[in-house]
Amino acid sequence: MRQKIIAGNWKMNLTLAEAVKLAADIKSDEASYKHQVILCPAFPYLTSLQNELKGSKIKLGAQNCADRENGAFTGEVSAPMLASMSLPYVIIGHSERRIYYHESHETLKEKMNLALRYGLLPIFCCGETKDIRIDEKQGVYVNKQLEESLFHLSDDDIAKVVIAYEPVWAIGTGLNATPQQAQDMHHFIREKVSARYGIGIAERIIILYGGSVKPDNAAELFSQSDVDGGLVGGASLKADDFKKIILSI
Ligand code: 13P
Repeated sequence: MRQKIIAGNWKMNLTLAEAVKLAADIKSDEASYKHQVILCPAFPYLTSLQNELKGSKIKLGAQNCADRENGAFTGEVSAPMLASMSLPYVIIGHSERRIYYHESHETLKEKMNLALRYGLLPIFCCGETKDIRIDEKQGVYVNKQLEESLFHLSDDDIAKVVIAYEPVWAIGTGLNATPQQAQDMHHFIREKVSARYGIGIAERIIILYGGSVKPDNAAELFSQSDVDGGLVGGASLKADDFKKIILSI
């Protein structure tokens, strides 16, 4: 049985006070959560949330890390910095980083290497745009994302990675992938992991779905056999919605 994860990616939202309150609201019901919950706030809120979540089962993740270890890179936050805060998770390769900040396969490969070298657990995002889906090239596209930034990793390292399939056309659009579309792509990803690393690792790797997950579609998406939970954007900003999503799995 693979562990199930519900992660909230808060993106560039909330004031500090709002972020702390949201974390406290989500924590208030944690006794009823059966699966791992991860919150990914903006960098400046991580320490406050660590304090708020002291003693809680809820874990924290950063939304990004630099592709360099340290030095004169103004505005960047490195993997060793996050590791020095005992942060467990970091999102790498979100489509918003790939699209708006032009992060290449090569850059993401370096980020993966650094995150793993410093003991962070990466949540590696992949997923196709609408045009690619219309052309039915999503398999080729996602496979390339995996091959270029992930499949150089050792068996030990790949086993620490969580993959998040997030079709770009479903992010923030209210248009989620159907449960069957999600299952098909998750199965495809698992098969690729199996071809590269063997069935044992493929069966254990956690693959999350992201893209317009809401309280009313979460249960069906998460009931698919290869969908191990979700990476939730907009709905993770509302405590009630996020709690319903957590409890739907
Ligand atoms: P939405 O849930 O807002 O579509 O965002 C998904 C996402 O990008 C999570 O990383």
